[in-house]
Amino acid sequence: SNLKPTIFIIFGGTGDLNKRKLAPALYNLYTENYMPGKFAIIGTGRTTYTNAQYREEILHSVNEFSRNGEVQKERWDVFEKNIHYISVDIEQQKTFEDLKEAIVNLQEQFGPDTQTIFYLAVAPNFFPLIAECLHKYKLTSDEEKCRIVIEKPFGHDLESAKKLNCLLSAIFTEKQIYRIDHYLGKETVQNMMAFRFANSLFEPLWNRTYIEHVQISVTEQLGVGERGGYYEDAGALRDMIQNHLLQLLCLVGMEAPISFNADEIRDRKVEVLKAMRPFKPENVSLQAVRGQYGKGWIEGKEVPGYRSEKDVDPESNTETFAAIKFFIDNWRWQGVPFYLRTGKRLNQTSSTITIQFRDVPHHIFATSSIESWQQNRLIISIQPEMSIRLQVQSKRPGLNMILNPVDMIFNYKGTYDNNTPEAYETLLLDVMTGDQTLFMRGDQVETAWELVMPIINLWENKKSLNFPNYAADSWGPEEAEALIAKDGFYWFTLP
Ligand code: BG6
Repeated sequence: SNLKPTIFIIFGGTGDLNKRKLAPALYNLYTENYMPGKFAIIGTGRTTYTNAQYREEILHSVNEFSRNGEVQKERWDVFEKNIHYISVDIEQQKTFEDLKEAIVNLQEQFGPDTQTIFYLAVAPNFFPLIAECLHKYKLTSDEEKCRIVIEKPFGHDLESAKKLNCLLSAIFTEKQIYRIDHYLGKETVQNMMAFRFANSLFEPLWNRTYIEHVQISVTEQLGVGERGGYYEDAGALRDMIQNHLLQLLCLVGMEAPISFNADEIRDRKVEVLKAMRPFKPENVSLQAVRGQYGKGWIEGKEVPGYRSEKDVDPESNTETFAAIKFFIDNWRWQGVPFYLRTGKRLNQTSSTITIQFRDVPHHIFATSSIESWQQNRLIISIQPEMSIRLQVQSKRPGLNMILNPVDMIFNYKGTYDNNTPEAYETLLLDVMTGDQTLFMRGDQVETAWELVMPIINLWENKKSLNFPNYAADSWGPEEAEALIAKDGFYWFTLP
């Protein structure tokens, strides 16, 4: 590829994210010839490793987690020469000198065009220290050639997000800051833009006149696993709704951009967040439901409840499920409810967006001839099935006029080669090319926090008395069904 020479510095180089996502993504980019002709990956961490030991570790990770399975030996042997390890203790600033030396050496070797990318895959309490050290050691000065990538969580609430933005913008320009929301890198999520803005068919219907309600549902079968320590302070609202689900909502709700330009698109998206109806404290309990999983059985195995997971308080008040009804106060969406739900240890792992269209204005088919009447629905399935289906009514073949809903389906499987790139491959390549379209701008993050703060405040101050309120392998608490049923709808799930 014709990218400029690049040095990737990964803080958290021995961590889980690097093992599962970053290292396999970089290797896959390499095997598909997307890496620059000259590049280096510097892993950093507190542990001491030789380059050889570190390369061995990374090899294990890539073999285990790459979508392409085990590496090809000849390719790996060349790739691994670009991997280096430097032990850096963030609390011992002097160790940054070693890092600086390594970077400067590589820059001399690669030439004046070299770009450096600092990837912060560490706990958020280290972000400020790292940013300050990079500044102090003059590693960040060149706006064109130096970028910083920040993993979630971006702040713990509105105030801390503002503080972090403030600190970063004292050192970097917005053009240099890449805030990750990995959902935006998913193939099916990127396709939302193509689907809406490269087809003339849907946009005329995409408004309150034709759309009755929208559902965005991201359910997971997994529990909190090894991440109890992090999750206890987060919960479903911070972990999923504030970022991933609200970003999906923006893609559904945004106005048509005038060009495919990073700031143009992010402007249109942030306008959706700004138009969202703020929660009054007295409305939270009417529009938001929280849940926490108890124990249950999954595939014949008993799994513990959240309060018995590792690093979790036995009386924890943290929610592992949230369902919320939002409104967007603008001309396009006035009065159309957007129901968002997400949770762990649910019955299915599935991410879908369902657009339910309004009923026909007049029914001509006698009810006796209709077995199942269904309004038109568009279902965008993000994962694991990657598909878009449009549900329409049809006449069932036969001598009677009996209607039956059928699906018109676009399935990735069968249409495209099934081996689609992982979100992190897309996002890392975008960082190298300098494309910020799929990254969160500072104002987007803050606006999303602002929106959820009233719910967070209420949930934190008022302990839930009925936790745990759903069993593992269920669809979440009953109140979540009631939230949508009281408006005459139900949560849609793929067959
Ligand atoms: C992460 C959350 O951002 O997204 C996790 O911290 C969650 O709790 C994960 O499991 C879900 O991502 P994906 O890509 O598996 O849907």
